[in-house]
Amino acid sequence: MPKPAAVFVCQSCGAKARQFFGRCPECGSWNSLVEQLQPATDGRRRRETPDPAQAPAARRSTAMASLDDQPLQRLQTGSEEFDRVLGGGLVPGSLVLVGGDPGIGKSTLLLQSASAMAHHSSVLYVSAEESAQQVKLRWQRLSETGESDLQLLAETDLELVLEELEALRPDVAIIDSIQALHDANLTSAPGSVGQVRECAAALQRLAKRQTTALMLVGHVTKEGMLAGPKVLEHLVDAVLTFEGDRFASHRLLRAVKNRFGATHELGLFEMQAQGLAEVGNPSELFLSDARASGVATIVACEGTRSLVVDLQALVNVTSYASPRRTATGIGTNRLHQILAVLEKHMGLPLSRFDCYLAVAGGLEVEEPAADLGVAAAVVASFRDLTLPAGTVLIGELGLGGQLRPVGQLELRLQEAARLGFQRAVVPRGSGLGGLAAGLDLALLEAESVTEALVLALGDAVNDQK
Ligand code: TYD
Ligand code: MG
Repeated sequence: MPKPAAVFVCQSCGAKARQFFGRCPECGSWNSLVEQLQPATDGRRRRETPDPAQAPAARRSTAMASLDDQPLQRLQTGSEEFDRVLGGGLVPGSLVLVGGDPGIGKSTLLLQSASAMAHHSSVLYVSAEESAQQVKLRWQRLSETGESDLQLLAETDLELVLEELEALRPDVAIIDSIQALHDANLTSAPGSVGQVRECAAALQRLAKRQTTALMLVGHVTKEGMLAGPKVLEHLVDAVLTFEGDRFASHRLLRAVKNRFGATHELGLFEMQAQGLAEVGNPSELFLSDARASGVATIVACEGTRSLVVDLQALVNVTSYASPRRTATGIGTNRLHQILAVLEKHMGLPLSRFDCYLAVAGGLEVEEPAADLGVAAAVVASFRDLTLPAGTVLIGELGLGGQLRPVGQLELRLQEAARLGFQRAVVPRGSGLGGLAAGLDLALLEAESVTEALVLALGDAVNDQK
């Protein structure tokens, strides 16, 4: 087969060049040239032989209503948490990208599910980073059963991987990792934008044709982005990120994009000596036992799941010209805004105090429903008060000091009640109706942040210091 020609194409102006230039000779933009394969002269890309199964009629448009309903069959990955994040299991023929920092456990997660899926489906695990021996050792450590049909291929050459996929036609194939694969038709190094894009596109074409579900492992760059072109994220059906604190044992799997399920769905795992174990009762991970001053409990929603999480604040007189504000697990801008609201509407001289804030268990809480909890933790630390045990705080702060209703309040309250919390401070007019009656939870409704903090902490919040 003649080698398909590769050219360098400028990503800003589309100009083509035969060799790499640091700067585009046409439009002058820097680092914009990316290598890609030229389409063959007959207008088709290589390897794209027409599929005999695809009759010409199937290529015409169809009336939407006349299409058959085909329920999505999903493959179970052997882990409830993984299935939940995928939207109920792996969809045959879909393409899933799993990204994460090095060493976080991507290979462990995928090898473990490959092993479990091999019990009911044919699975090929392509290891482009580790040798077959290394993978075997890990697999022995992870799986209890010796009997398995899991196929392993330790290979970095794209052509050979495609050949093996075509020969085996597995239900599921795992590519660990897409950055380590190499297309010999391109001159650029493995892991470069051109390579990643061409390898992923070639794999996708083959996988869609033969209904193989593909899971690609992707690396995360130093900036925290999934390495490789953004186009990779557009190409795949689902983007999952695997994250966690390297110093703690729990890991979070999150769906950033999912064509077959909800996004922001969260799966929780714990890294143990025998691989990743599911976490049954996640809220316990994020609750601290001690009731110290400056600890407040919120209920965060991640996808369809709610988590009860402790926040801790430390407010201390500053010894710097401008006070320090550090937040772990919550955006610093959000913290600045809440501090400004407290200063303006409760008259607290916070600009003369350092403020540190941390979310327990390394969770990232992005939603504004955590605002009231942050405010309560800060004020409790400032006034040296302890929030009574069994109280959760839910609400968004407006810039005028008012408390705004939040979404999924019912879900949050149910989780708090399930864990034995007795009181919840919530925004007034959340439209709860008779809901509270069904739950074993006292609702304290407040209109403003001051009112909410008095309800939670008592009149002492307004004492002059
Ligand atoms: P790995 O899956 O290789 O990470 P990635 O593919 O994302 O780079 O996991 C690496 C870490 O996981 C490694 O530091 C050791 C730890 N680990 C365990 O704690 N228990 C286990 O059973 C396994 C397989 C790994
Ligand atoms: Mg790995």
